[in-house]
Amino acid sequence: MNAPWKSSMPGNRDPFAAFLCDEAALEVLRPVVIEMGWQPEKCNKGGLRNAVQSLSITASPNILMVDLSESGDPLNDINGLAEVCEPGTVVIAVGQVNDVRLYRDLVASGIHDYLLKPLSPGQIRDALIQAQAVFSQPRQTDASTAKRHISTAIVGTRGGVGASMLATSLAWLFSTDHKMPTALLDLDVHFGTGALSLDLEPGRGLTDAIENPSRIDGLFIERAMIRANDNLSILSAEAPINAPLMTDGTAFVQLEEEFRQAFEMTVIDLPRNMLINFPHLMADVNVVVLATEFTLASARDAIRILSWLKANAAHVQTFVIVNKVQAQNQEISRADFEASIERKVNFVLPYDLKGASNAAKLGQTFAEANRSAKSGAVVRQIAQTVLGIGDGEEAAPVVQGGKKSLLGKLDLKSMLAKKKEPAKDQVPA
Ligand SMILES: Nc1ncnc2c1ncn2[C@@H]1O[C@H](COP(=O)(O)OP(=O)(O)OP(=O)(O)O)[C@@H](O)[C@H]1O
Ligand SMILES: [Mg+2]
Repeated sequence: MNAPWKSSMPGNRDPFAAFLCDEAALEVLRPVVIEMGWQPEKCNKGGLRNAVQSLSITASPNILMVDLSESGDPLNDINGLAEVCEPGTVVIAVGQVNDVRLYRDLVASGIHDYLLKPLSPGQIRDALIQAQAVFSQPRQTDASTAKRHISTAIVGTRGGVGASMLATSLAWLFSTDHKMPTALLDLDVHFGTGALSLDLEPGRGLTDAIENPSRIDGLFIERAMIRANDNLSILSAEAPINAPLMTDGTAFVQLEEEFRQAFEMTVIDLPRNMLINFPHLMADVNVVVLATEFTLASARDAIRILSWLKANAAHVQTFVIVNKVQAQNQEISRADFEASIERKVNFVLPYDLKGASNAAKLGQTFAEANRSAKSGAVVRQIAQTVLGIGDGEEAAPVVQGGKKSLLGKLDLKSMLAKKKEPAKDQVPA
C-alpha cells in the first residue's frame, strides 16, 4: 500500500490495527492480538470506511486488518485505502464473500491476505504471523519501480543574481510542463520570495517545521505546504526580522527526506549563508544550479562555491547559469569569466527587465509570465537539462589552457587558492 503524501517512519507506527464491523469478529481477534504482544485497544469497531478516515489523520500501522463486509465495492474502496496507507503496510482483508475472483483481485491490488468470516483464532493467528514475517522481510527495491527523485538546489553567488527567480521558475516548469509532483522549499527564511512570486501567502508551515522538527512527517507536509498548482507545493516563511533563525538544521534534513518520499522533484532555494551553516543539506541534493553574473565579485564567489562543492559534495551535478547578461555592457567578459572559474558556463540568461516586470505584475513565475520571450525559452532549457532530457552540449567541463584568467591577472585566484576553506566546512560523512 502506498500513499503519495506519506512516508514510512517505522518509529511512529503501531505494530497492528484492525477495523472489524461486528463484535463477534472482534471477540475472536482480541485474544490473538494480546498473544502477539499487541494492544487490544487497536482492534476498532468499524469497516473499511473507518479505516480510511482514521489513517488519513494518523500514521499507518505495520499490519492492518480491515473488514470489507459493509463495503459495496470492495476493490474500489481498497484503492481509497491505498491513498492513505503508508508504504510497507501489510493489509489483511476480512469479508463474507467466498469468491475466488474477488480474492485474486484483492491480492492483485496489494492486499496480503483475505480471511473469510466467521473468523477462527487459528486462522487469524496464522495470518498475523505470516503478515509479520512479510513486514520484517528486507524490502526488495525493484529498480524499475523505485521512485525517481531529483533534488535541485539553487544557489546564488551574490545577492540579487536571480537565484529565487530560477528556483520558482524551475519548480513551476517541473510541475506544469513536465507534470511532476514538485516541492519548492524556500530556505530564505526571513526574506524569501518563493511564495510572493507565485502570488501566495507563505503561511506558518516552514516556521512550524523549524520550531518542531519532530512533528515533520507525511501528514505534516500535506497540511503545512501551500498548493501553487495541482503538482506544485511550496514551503516557505516570512519569519519576523526580529527573530533570528534558531535551528540546527534538523528540520531541513527531515523535510528533504519527506519530500523525497512524497514528490518526484524537490527544488530548494538555498541562500549562500544556509549552505555555509548547514552543509549537510547537500548530502541529499543531486543537482546544484549556481546562479551568477558576469561580475568580478561573482566570479570570485563562483570559484569558491564550485571548489567547495567539489570538495564537499562531489556527488552533485553542477550547472552554472549566468543571469542578467547585457551584450556589450558587462563588467567582465564571458571568456574571462570562464577562464577564471575554469569551466564553461552552461546557460546565459539575458537581462530582461520587461520579463521581470511582467512576472511581478501578473504574480507569476518568470518562466510562466514569459513563455514566448527568449529568456523564458532559456529557463525552459535549463529545466530540461536538470531533468536530463535537455541538450547537454553546453555542459562542458573545465576550460583547458587557452585564455588567461582575469582573476589570475589580478592575482586574486592564487590568493583564493591559499585561503582554502577550513576543514570544518566538510560535509559529515
Ligand atoms: N534576467 C533578468 N532580467 C531582469 N531582471 C531579473 C532577471 N532575473 C531576475 N531579475 C530580477 O532581479 C531581482 C532579483 O532576483 P531574485 O530575487 O531572483 O534574486 P536572488 O538571487 O534570489 O536575490 P536574493 O539574494 O535577495 O535572494 C528580481 O526583482 C527579479 O525579478
Ligand atoms: Mg533569493
